[in-house]
Amino acid sequence: MSDKKQWRIAVLPGDGIGPEVMAQACRALDALEKSCGLTVERVEYDWPSHAYHERHGRSAPEGYLDTLAGFDAILLGALGDPGPTSNPGRYLLSDADSLAPLLEIRKGFDQWACERPCRPLPGAPRYLSDSRAEDIDMLVIRENSEGEYVGQGGRLAAGTSREIVTQTSVFTRTGTERIFRHAFLQAQRRARLRREAGQPRSFRKADGSEAPAQVCLVTKRNALKFWGEMYTEVFEQIAADYPEVAVHHELVDAACMKFVTSPWAFDVVVASNLHGDILTDLAAVLNGGMGVAPSCNLNPADRRKPPMFEPTHGSAPDIAGQNLAGPTAMLLTTAMMLDWMAVEDPAAGDAARRLRDAVAADLAEQGGQRRTTADTGDAVLARLG
Ligand code: IPM
Ligand code: MN
Repeated sequence: MSDKKQWRIAVLPGDGIGPEVMAQACRALDALEKSCGLTVERVEYDWPSHAYHERHGRSAPEGYLDTLAGFDAILLGALGDPGPTSNPGRYLLSDADSLAPLLEIRKGFDQWACERPCRPLPGAPRYLSDSRAEDIDMLVIRENSEGEYVGQGGRLAAGTSREIVTQTSVFTRTGTERIFRHAFLQAQRRARLRREAGQPRSFRKADGSEAPAQVCLVTKRNALKFWGEMYTEVFEQIAADYPEVAVHHELVDAACMKFVTSPWAFDVVVASNLHGDILTDLAAVLNGGMGVAPSCNLNPADRRKPPMFEPTHGSAPDIAGQNLAGPTAMLLTTAMMLDWMAVEDPAAGDAARRLRDAVAADLAEQGGQRRTTADTGDAVLARLG
């Protein structure tokens, strides 16, 4: 027998359009297994989901994180309102309850980096009229383990006029160092790939010289001083180890503005959990909208902790169950999973390229059409051969 890597993937279709787009991702994986010599064992679970909650009174079985720990990676469709919104009597949880597993999985496997690439493909919707929008190529890296998402705080005298609410943000030096170092490593990697492809980019450094890559730090240090100062200091320290990478700083409000006026000027952007959350919805629009925006949550320091690959979009209850959802974001997210696998398995690298090429060719040819979920899946599958 060969010593070929046997991958084990947990498939969590989730709620709303999740199962519909996941079905297309699974078809693509089946085809790629055959054509690329890839071996992926998939185990599908009907949790976390509203449907599971309706039957069992909880979104996922007790100990579900232990079950997921036995996999190499997690592929998730979407969580949230299951829809369809035309059915006002549907079983509905609060957002906080239905989305909790997402945060539990990120936390449980210490998936401290969330990567959301923004590189619009020809054929994807384009919301900016400036033709330079075609050149956008950035990677937004979101700190995914702490900051504004630690869930610390509470409500005192809730609902009364004396109510006091706290929602504390926590920033650690260790958490900050690791995400910034990851951002610089990704900037180096992107510069290398561009050089190899004969498409280098150039960014101005503070001393006036040119650099092949850039990391932009986002803060709100003019108002949120303590966190802003620590971020700024740690960023400078880490940047000193990567003199060939240009650095830049934006306040988050200005970053929002510049994502609209000149997004092509960014390369790698690194931001706190909440700032990253907000900026990546904006980046998703620059990428062509939620229908085409992939995402992943990973622990770059420990590949044994399963990463979770999930599109940036949610459960889209307005179109759920109608075979209307575009599976492109889910397919590109699956390609990100294959990229992650490629570090240990060249067949996965081949599969990632094929899938991305097929999705890109499909978008270029038919991106403007209104199609059913299955039609888009069929078209991509036909290109996978
Ligand atoms: C995302 C989502 C989640 C987040 C929600 C659903 C909790 O918006 O993945 O960006 O805020 O992280
Ligand atoms: Mn979000």
